[in-house]
Amino acid sequence: MPKVVPVRPETGNGAIPAENDVAIKVRGVTVGFGEKVVLRDLDLDVRRGEVLGFVGGSGTGKSVLTRAILGLVKKWSGTIEVFGENLDKLSREEHRALERRWGVLFQHGALFSGLTVLQNIQVPMREYLHLSQALMDELAMLKIEMVGLNPDAAHKFPSELSGGMIKRAALARALALDPEILFLDEPTSGLDPIGAAEFDELIGTLQKTLGLTVFMVTHDLDSLYSICDRIAALADGKVAAEGPIKELLQSQHPWLQSYFHGIRAERMNR
Ligand SMILES: Nc1ncnc2c1ncn2[C@@H]1O[C@H](COP(=O)(O)OP(=O)(O)OP(=O)(O)O)[C@@H](O)[C@H]1O
Ligand SMILES: [Mg+2]
Repeated sequence: MPKVVPVRPETGNGAIPAENDVAIKVRGVTVGFGEKVVLRDLDLDVRRGEVLGFVGGSGTGKSVLTRAILGLVKKWSGTIEVFGENLDKLSREEHRALERRWGVLFQHGALFSGLTVLQNIQVPMREYLHLSQALMDELAMLKIEMVGLNPDAAHKFPSELSGGMIKRAALARALALDPEILFLDEPTSGLDPIGAAEFDELIGTLQKTLGLTVFMVTHDLDSLYSICDRIAALADGKVAAEGPIKELLQSQHPWLQSYFHGIRAERMNR
């Protein structure tokens, strides 16, 4: 069943953010494991205030790049700058300060199963902030409201939640520290089309109201149409093409051609 999604004409500001206002700058990044090279001399800019959709075949390295930016996977070479700071040049303290400025929804971004939703949202708060329990409770309830969860969900454990509610709770946790950048790795995977469309709308609304920069790995064509300002496509370890969806639709790159002009894309355009 195709999703009914509002097509986002332009960004929240009415224009694609300026090319020179870059939140994340990746240059010449190579990452591999053992003999295997996954990302090869990759360049990418994520502009401040945009939703960048990051697409590519399964196993091409989308999560690896995300994790490399987050400092969870070691790169072999290249540089990554976030808000103008070269991550390799930061002290442990400076890196921690930067970590407070981003929130992450991991692909298998499970919540801690032994903690309630409220406690899950408070994990980053405990790690990075020194707040009273009462204040953390208040803040976590605000995040729960922000992602459209019923307040009752606060005291539930992940096993008591639907897939859509788990995604929302994980998003609330990603927003716990009021980040400027949100990393979302396959945020709508596993949701039904209606649930996915609602989640896209939530991300779009939050991005606009909070002025977030969003780096979103996705396989979901509908998300690309509805909330992404620009798209970068990963193939053969590099960004093979980047730009607004209209431009990528014209790309001659074989992977993009089959991706956008495949059966799923045709169904979307009908
Ligand atoms: N920690 C690791 N050790 C060894 N190999 C890894 C590790 N992490 C990722 N890989 C390999 O790197 C490649 C890229 O993986 P990655 O998870 O980034 O793919 P992906 O593009 O996110 O795919 P999907 O769309 O299926 O999530 C895969 O071949 C994977 O097996
Ligand atoms: Mg992945």
